[in-house]
Amino acid sequence: MIHQPKNMRVLFVCLGNICRSPLAEALFQKKIMDAGLSDKVKCDSCGVSDYHIGELPDDRTLANAKMNGVEIKHRARQLNKRDFKSFDYILAMDKSNLSEINKFMQMHHIAHDNVHLLRSFDQTEGQEVPDPYYGGDEGFQKVFDILSDAVDSFLVFLKEEKLAEADAR
Ligand code: 4NP
Repeated sequence: MIHQPKNMRVLFVCLGNICRSPLAEALFQKKIMDAGLSDKVKCDSCGVSDYHIGELPDDRTLANAKMNGVEIKHRARQLNKRDFKSFDYILAMDKSNLSEINKFMQMHHIAHDNVHLLRSFDQTEGQEVPDPYYGGDEGFQKVFDILSDAVDSFLVFLKEEKLAEADAR
């Protein structure tokens, strides 16, 4: 039987799903494409809150992403039970998001092996992606730079640890 390695599916999670996680998704998507891995790695994003369901990303996020050559096409949605079956990695932007995800899992008796802070895959040993929502424009560029590096590090991890493993099978 031909073994078909399964896709790796990655979900980026923040509070509102209008600033950090849709940008993480768009950046990761671009890097997956550039690496020729579009058929092997899939991604999406969502928020732990219901504050902005159905909305496009924050205007400041869209403007900053455009300035950096990244297009975001995403409508905000909230984390749901199916996500824990649909995604192999669930990556939170900050500790508060992570704690909300864990609470959701406890409440719904859900187990999942790979719920982490996004930045636990880079050199920072799990620093947070700061929330830019209440700050100025410079915060959005800072978040862009942090996310660009963080998703790079996560893709290196996936390529080295997981995709290589799946290919070897
Ligand atoms: P995000 O940023 O979690 O990166 O999408 C925020 C968006 C909205 C709010 C807070 C943070 N809010 O309070 O509405």
